Amino acid sequence: MFKLFVFVALLALVSCEVQRIKIHQSGHKRDHRHVKQEIRWLKHKYHQLIESIIVYDYGVPDYVAPDYNNDYYDNSNTDSTTNDTATIEELGNSMNMYYFGTIGIGTPEQYFNVVFDTGSANLWIPSVHCASTDVACQQHNQYNSSASSTYVASSQNFSIEYGTGSVTGFLAIDTVTINGLSIANQTFGEAITQPGSSFENVAFDGILGMAYQTIAVDTVVPPFYNLYEQGLIDEPVFGFYLGRNGTATDGGELILGGSDESLYVGNLSYVPVSQQGYWQFAVNNITWNGTVVCDNCQAIADTGTSLIACPFSAYSQLNQLIGALYVEGSYYVSCSTVDSLPVLSFSIGNGIFELPPSAYISTFGDGNSTYCMSTFTYIGTDFWILGDVFIGQFYTEFDFGENRVGFAPVA
Ligand SMILES: *[C@@H]1O[C@H](CO)[C@@H](O)[C@H](O)[C@H]1NC(C)=O
Ligand SMILES: *[C@@H]1O[C@H](CO)[C@@H](O)[C@H](O)[C@H]1NC(C)=O
Ligand SMILES: *[C@@H]1O[C@H](CO)[C@@H](O)[C@H](O)[C@H]1NC(C)=O
Ligand SMILES: *[C@@H]1O[C@H](CO)[C@@H](O)[C@H](O)[C@H]1NC(C)=O
Ligand SMILES: *[C@@H]1O[C@H](CO)[C@@H](O)[C@H](O)[C@H]1NC(C)=O
Ligand SMILES: *[C@@H]1O[C@H](CO)[C@@H](O)[C@H](O)[C@H]1NC(C)=O
Ligand SMILES: *[C@@H]1O[C@H](CO)[C@@H](O)[C@H](O)[C@H]1NC(C)=O
Ligand SMILES: *[C@@H]1O[C@H](CO)[C@@H](O)[C@H](O)[C@H]1NC(C)=O
Ligand SMILES: *[C@@H]1O[C@H](CO)[C@@H](O)[C@H](O)[C@H]1NC(C)=O
Repeated sequence: MFKLFVFVALLALVSCEVQRIKIHQSGHKRDHRHVKQEIRWLKHKYHQLIESIIVYDYGVPDYVAPDYNNDYYDNSNTDSTTNDTATIEELGNSMNMYYFGTIGIGTPEQYFNVVFDTGSANLWIPSVHCASTDVACQQHNQYNSSASSTYVASSQNFSIEYGTGSVTGFLAIDTVTINGLSIANQTFGEAITQPGSSFENVAFDGILGMAYQTIAVDTVVPPFYNLYEQGLIDEPVFGFYLGRNGTATDGGELILGGSDESLYVGNLSYVPVSQQGYWQFAVNNITWNGTVVCDNCQAIADTGTSLIACPFSAYSQLNQLIGALYVEGSYYVSCSTVDSLPVLSFSIGNGIFELPPSAYISTFGDGNSTYCMSTFTYIGTDFWILGDVFIGQFYTEFDFGENRVGFAPVA
């Protein structure tokens, strides 16, 4: 599909903009329950049927009403002072677990918080037609097609499989607005049912996939493809900065149509996409204090995963190397050792990216105690998933034009 873009770009002589998308962060404290919820969600995403091992030591998750006042993007903030060729959306960050921003759907716009997820390729949001018993749907904003003058019905149903069930509903076509750029005729999923409790108590309403169309359910054209084809941005490129110490309103930044040079140091170091589905690439090797834990392996860059997911052998080896103990589904190290742990060094393309222990160990508190959790997790994949723990340290550019991923240390 992106082969078309060269042609389209030649026709589009109008000057376009690069769009900056602000990412938001919710201010809740992270605890064991959140970590379990996170790992559960990841297993769902990668279709792993391991639900039975999840232990709720806090009982059933509390109902937490979404805090829209804090989490929603304030559109009055749209930065019109820049003379950039890109558009930037700031992203919210919920406990470093997921990052989301606001989009509008329909005319007039109905607003949704979505996770900009490079590990999937469909846009879906909850539908006003969901059941009143669907807790996840009732907790979130719902799309009402009757209230949109630009809605076009589609007779097609959609179903996205997760470990415990499916997100199902029907496809709808409407205008999708990202940071003021309106994509006409975007097809997306109106979710009527959501599986289990996967999407309950989360600050986002839906997901906006940014991977290749080849992994899109029903081969629906992903929004970013249309954004480019409709000439709303100049380059088929986007970049993520994920703040690790962000705030609800300043959690990070997604830039559409380029990269934000002010957010990284030096030049981006590129690696070709090895398979056009996920943003997948080859890693030369990964070493920890001289021990090689990956030699010529595959990895994906996934903004929709918070942790570092490893193949099983690397997962066991790394957690053993850092001296972590397995407690109720996660590995923990003594917090006093964190500062003295060596870096994890990734050789990708011609670059070397060193992940410090302060990044690969996640520190959080429960009451008066502090826990230091290993972010090396296993969710059943034979490739590495470099999630927000990695992207938080290394600004990441996703380039559909050249089919490559670029990394550089964050500024
Ligand atoms: C904005 O961009 C235009 C076109 O590239 C350029 O002519 C103009 O000087 C720029 N303005 C500022 C304030 O940088
Ligand atoms: C959906 O929008 C229509 C038209 O504005 C309105 O009549 C209807 O009540 C809305 N439905 C819900 C559930 O809000
Ligand atoms: C879509 O799903 C609905 C409800 O399950 C069903 O009645 C309908 O026949 C389906 N339509 C298509 C085109 O599959
Ligand atoms: C959107 O669809 C309408 C109706 O089919 C069509 O007239 C219009 O040109 C389309 N717009 C774009 C940008 O594809
Ligand atoms: C996070 O930000 C707060 C407030 O700006 C600052 O006090 C704290 O030192 C920062 N922590 C890290 C790890 O940068
Ligand atoms: C970045 O690349 C440019 C052009 O290739 C080069 O001139 C410059 O020295 C590089 N900067 C760094 C910090 O490597
Ligand atoms: C890792 O890969 C790089 C690039 O191919 C190579 O120069 C380096 O020697 C490798 N390191 C190890 C420990 O294999
Ligand atoms: C790292 O390797 C050195 C040399 O083999 C060893 O002395 C040191 O204990 C190792 N560090 C850790 C934290 O394992
Ligand atoms: C935290 O410590 C304070 C003072 O020791 C104590 O009063 C409080 O109950 C503790 N809170 C928890 C959740 O353990």
